[in-house]
Amino acid sequence: MIDDKRREIKKKLRGLQGLPTLPPIVAKLTQMIGDETVSAPQIAAVIERDQVLTSKVLRLVNSAFYGFPRRISTVSNAIVLLGLNVIRTLVLTASIFEMMQSRDIGLWEHSLGVAMVSGVLARELRLENPEEVATAGLLHDLGKVVERASLFEDYTRIQKIVQDQKISWREAEKEILHMDHAEIGGYLLNRWNLPERLIDPVSWHHEVSGAKKFPVETAVVQMADLLVRARGFGYGGDPWVPEPEDLVLERVPLDRSRLEKLWPELEGRFYELRFFIQEMREALSA
Ligand SMILES: [Fe+2]
Ligand SMILES: [Fe+2]
Repeated sequence: MIDDKRREIKKKLRGLQGLPTLPPIVAKLTQMIGDETVSAPQIAAVIERDQVLTSKVLRLVNSAFYGFPRRISTVSNAIVLLGLNVIRTLVLTASIFEMMQSRDIGLWEHSLGVAMVSGVLARELRLENPEEVATAGLLHDLGKVVERASLFEDYTRIQKIVQDQKISWREAEKEILHMDHAEIGGYLLNRWNLPERLIDPVSWHHEVSGAKKFPVETAVVQMADLLVRARGFGYGGDPWVPEPEDLVLERVPLDRSRLEKLWPELEGRFYELRFFIQEMREALSA
């Protein structure tokens, strides 16, 4: 059976002006990075042409958010040290910051928290691309940003039934939109041609059995989401902290004692993240 509501939402998402279009610079970089005849210095030059973007990328590289051990002062340096994929995700991150933080501070803080914890867990599990897992964490609730920005009528109805019926945000989304924010976020990232290692975790962070290509990364993002909500950092949309899915506990083999050992590091980073958020807010409102 064809679901009219879902069709309507997807049609709206496709036709959206403004917010959910990929910043042109990211599209350009994605295309350049895929083209083997383009060299790293050429890519650096494209980014460096944009002063504001350059300063944001450097701030991000040097922030607690990514936690690289040494100072990085130029974009070309960053590319040499971190590789092109990391740079692309950094540019994407920098571009998405503004749209997120101007709409909903609580969700922005929540997303940054999940990004940071995802990165720490990915490193602890020795996954291949911890920075991209962090970026997936940053984007995991992108669908919620879009609901608020572009589906506002539905958004207020969701908000109302979350309060009245005491159900979770996601249950309410399914009632009103017939799809949830994970699907919306994944749908957009897909349309933006972003890599599967971002799409998979965003699409399946509430139902990890759906993630076929990056199952562990997806489980990491769910775990990070729950830890950040339990910690009370930012606000993800509703006050409940669900149990992790069994599959998450299987795929993220960090038992209680290992998590307890990690906690001081996470606390330190939460603390730094507070400063970073303050700093970014000042920089962006200036
Ligand atoms: Fe979510
Ligand atoms: Fe979340």
